[in-house]
Amino acid sequence: MILSAYRFADGVEVATEAIAHCAETIRAGGLVGLPTETVYGLGADADNEAAVAQIFTAKGRPADHPLIVHVASLDGGMGGVAHYAERVPAFASQLMAAFWPGPLTLVLPRKSGVGSAAAGGQKSIGLRCPSHPAAQNLLSMLRKPEAGAKQVWGVAAPSANKFGRVSPTTAEHVLAEFGDEMPILDGGACEIGIESTIVDCTRGTPVLLRPGFISRKQIEEACGRKLLTNEEFLEQAPKASGTLESHYAPRAKVRLMSAKQLQEALGLFESSLPKSTPPDQKPQIALYARSPFKTSSIQMVQRAMPRDAAMAAHELFAVLREFDDAGVALIWVETPPKTVEWEGVLDRLQRASA
Ligand code: TXA
Ligand code: MG
Repeated sequence: MILSAYRFADGVEVATEAIAHCAETIRAGGLVGLPTETVYGLGADADNEAAVAQIFTAKGRPADHPLIVHVASLDGGMGGVAHYAERVPAFASQLMAAFWPGPLTLVLPRKSGVGSAAAGGQKSIGLRCPSHPAAQNLLSMLRKPEAGAKQVWGVAAPSANKFGRVSPTTAEHVLAEFGDEMPILDGGACEIGIESTIVDCTRGTPVLLRPGFISRKQIEEACGRKLLTNEEFLEQAPKASGTLESHYAPRAKVRLMSAKQLQEALGLFESSLPKSTPPDQKPQIALYARSPFKTSSIQMVQRAMPRDAAMAAHELFAVLREFDDAGVALIWVETPPKTVEWEGVLDRLQRASA
């Protein structure tokens, strides 16, 4: 069931009863769909093994793929960090100070005996302090409960989608993935739209495990250290679902092409069509591009890719779902610019097309 996180449509006042209901569900060991500024998460008490097991089952995710644990920002996130992390390298503290609450996940050495199921058995744990007000309200309520209620230190929450599929950026997407069984807190369309940047802080030097909205340059500036790229580190990196080749995959086949390749491909497709197409024929191609294209006879679903990388990230997963819902067989995407701002979007598109 979808519960609005806000009392008013303009989103200013948080609906305490809806948040309290979700907090209660999590305390009781249940699952909740929750909004964050990046994507919606499928959340459960990170210290409750049975609840965490339910996340893996619901997602169809292998149990050795670690989940991100979300902590309240009450004390700069440090309470949650102290509960789960064995130690915090200085550069990681600098990153927390610079970007928390916000779309940055830090992988830290894990305290033994804590959060082991959520960590997928890894000796480390991924921690994130999200900035979405509804998520923060929920996390704070769990951390500082009313007298007598159980304290919950962190919420394990992977993206609320079936394993390998497109991440959800609205409450309706979550409903479409998991149905009406659990409460889904509706905090509106996610502002950022792609998952958090993940930095591994367990190897003495920061390593980028997943690019996102917070760029490499911003991270290097905030901690004064060189950030190794995923490629540089891939051979030693822990097995992570976010680094699997094919991920974020729509049902339709996704292809990334330059503007020139796209124009040629459209030309070829057009010339392969029978002379008279029946009028009720459904479009087979969805096109997501910045450049305009000349196509006279192809029926397509078309969306213009925003010129701004942040705007493109914000809408990307919703657009891919929209294309799937239109029933197309092919999604043709113009390759975004190879600049640092576009790194997160390019990464997700490459995975979707792998
Ligand atoms: O933006 C986000 O991070 C979203 C929202 C809901 O917060 N969450 C998310 O979670 O993307 P998920 O489970 O889909 O991504 C988890 C990824 C893993 O695939 C892995 O790459 C990394 O986080 N990760 C988590 N814990 C880790 C650990 N201990 N060691 C290495 N990688 C870890
Ligand atoms: Mg995911």
